[in-house]
Amino acid sequence: TDAFRAHPVHLHHKHLDFTSLQELPDSYKWTQLDDHAHYPSGGAESVPVIDLSDPNAFKKIGHACKTWGVFQVTNHGFPSTLLDNTEKASKSLFCLPIQQKLKAARSPDGVSGYGIARISSFFSKLMWSEGFTVVGSPVEHFRQLWPQDYTQFCDIIEEYQMEMQKLAARLMWLMLGSLGITKEDVKWAGPKGDFEGASGALQFNYYPACPDPDRAMGLAAHTDSTLLTILHQNSTSGLQVLREGTGWVTVPPIPGGLVINVGDLLHILSNGLYPSVLHRAVVNRTKHRLSMAYLYGPPSSVKISPLSKLVSPSQPPLYRPVTWNEYLGTKAKHFNKALSSVRVCA
Ligand code: SIN
Ligand code: FE2
Repeated sequence: TDAFRAHPVHLHHKHLDFTSLQELPDSYKWTQLDDHAHYPSGGAESVPVIDLSDPNAFKKIGHACKTWGVFQVTNHGFPSTLLDNTEKASKSLFCLPIQQKLKAARSPDGVSGYGIARISSFFSKLMWSEGFTVVGSPVEHFRQLWPQDYTQFCDIIEEYQMEMQKLAARLMWLMLGSLGITKEDVKWAGPKGDFEGASGALQFNYYPACPDPDRAMGLAAHTDSTLLTILHQNSTSGLQVLREGTGWVTVPPIPGGLVINVGDLLHILSNGLYPSVLHRAVVNRTKHRLSMAYLYGPPSSVKISPLSKLVSPSQPPLYRPVTWNEYLGTKAKHFNKALSSVRVCA
């Protein structure tokens, strides 16, 4: 779908051949340029961890969405072997020789494939990471990567997408449910309320060990342009979220846990009650890190606007209706002010 068609970034394999770098080149030194770097790291607070088998889970989720815009879930029912197998597949992808990976490079106007972070075009410095995006079927690219046994990798990815789609729909109802929203309020969720026609993309991120982690950036601060994002990280930490009044808070990997981010479209749908979370990934001197994000969004024809139940004379709609694609276009123009640029002006 067009919704993922980001902004062409010219790919040069020198940008991606981290193994040959003993020292951090200037083009990767961020400290002076990161708008958000002046926020302190740490703080005693931690991102809520919610057990989905807890009967009070939906209340806790509502609270986490309002106050953090992010939480971790356990007992979510997502098959753990599928998480392991997908992590292994992703690791074997990034471990291929660079020339092999470049055979599956994202084309300049394309969406799927291998390359640098898709938000790179908004920043002048390079990020210490490589990525691989899958929208729809991975067959075409996986054939280039593993000519002999691509089918087994495709099967894993397709199953991962299917299971993620189910979990995402379930999370949508838990998140919206605590705002008093029911299936009748969201027509585009379809007659069964399963959000059929919703779109998902898979984003694999790999952060090699870095000779100068304090000056490098794995993935620069951003909010996700999704309804929600479901993130799995391997055992190396690196994800940080910006907490008002506290600074950057690390989201520690928990075995079998998944991180759920509120994205910009859910921020709009909730009329600002659920703020999308600003997050980034930092890197590590000795360990590589791997993360896998499932980016979940509405069907491409749907206009997202504040739900009518959440709008009243005292709470006027804050945002105008936008399709996912229109929102991405706006974000490309006003990267750091994307939500304010879809505001309704009185
Ligand atoms: C992302 O924001 O897409 C990934 C962050 C991470 O690697 O943890
Ligand atoms: Fe993200």
